Amino acid sequence: MTGRLYGLGVGPGDPELITLKAWRILRSVPVIAYPAPTGGASFARGIVASWLSPAQIEFVISVPMEEARFPAQSVYDHAAGTIGQHLDAGRDVAVLCQGDPFFYGSFMYLFGRLAEAYPCTIVPGVSSLGACAAAAGFPLAARNDAVSVLPATLPDVELTRRLEACDAAAIIKLGRHFARVRALLERLGLATNARYVERATLAEARVLALDAVEPGDTPYFSMILLHRRGEAWR
Ligand SMILES: C[S@@+](CC[C@H](N)C(=O)[O-])C[C@H]1O[C@@H](n2cnc3c(N)ncnc32)[C@H](O)[C@@H]1O
Repeated sequence: MTGRLYGLGVGPGDPELITLKAWRILRSVPVIAYPAPTGGASFARGIVASWLSPAQIEFVISVPMEEARFPAQSVYDHAAGTIGQHLDAGRDVAVLCQGDPFFYGSFMYLFGRLAEAYPCTIVPGVSSLGACAAAAGFPLAARNDAVSVLPATLPDVELTRRLEACDAAAIIKLGRHFARVRALLERLGLATNARYVERATLAEARVLALDAVEPGDTPYFSMILLHRRGEAWR
């Protein structure tokens, strides 16, 4: 019998925000895999580090930090091959996913390669959207609001088109795009109804008005939340 593949959502950063189900599976599987930027530490592993056992086999999926539209296919081909060998040997494998596995999670590239051949369970996690809204005290949407999730990597013309069509938005993958996105929001008159949230749920989390953010000081794990027509809850 083959092993089972798990996509384990481990939440946005605070270890207390992992679900009981993910925690139980994390502690029971013999093999743990997780993405990490090439040469860097894995955020997902860091969240659950205190629960890992030396008896568990760990497999790092080393992901080059590029902005290519599609991920490095060879990285996921190779990772799927290694994980497939464990599954063929009957060992369950949990792939750690920061936040939720199916919300912009790289786990989906392994799911696409392995889920037809092996039994697979996805354990949803608390996503950064809810975490950032909670940290900022900034409800995401109400009544008939349409919320857009927009990667900051989109060109200005595309961001503008989508911002003009929504009631509320979360702009993710900010990092070095912050200054450009803030300038765009100022041009569109949307900067004052927005919040910048960085590393939500971690001890070093920051929530700021956009004009209080130092450009050049914005990590990848940050996003902007905004409402087009003021704060719907007032
Ligand atoms: C590739 S997406 C992964 C999202 C993740 N799977 C989730 O469910 O939240 C990465 C983006 O999510 C956002 N993000 C993730 N965790 C965050 C956190 N703790 N605080 C602020 N933004 C976060 C950032 O915009 C970051 O660039």
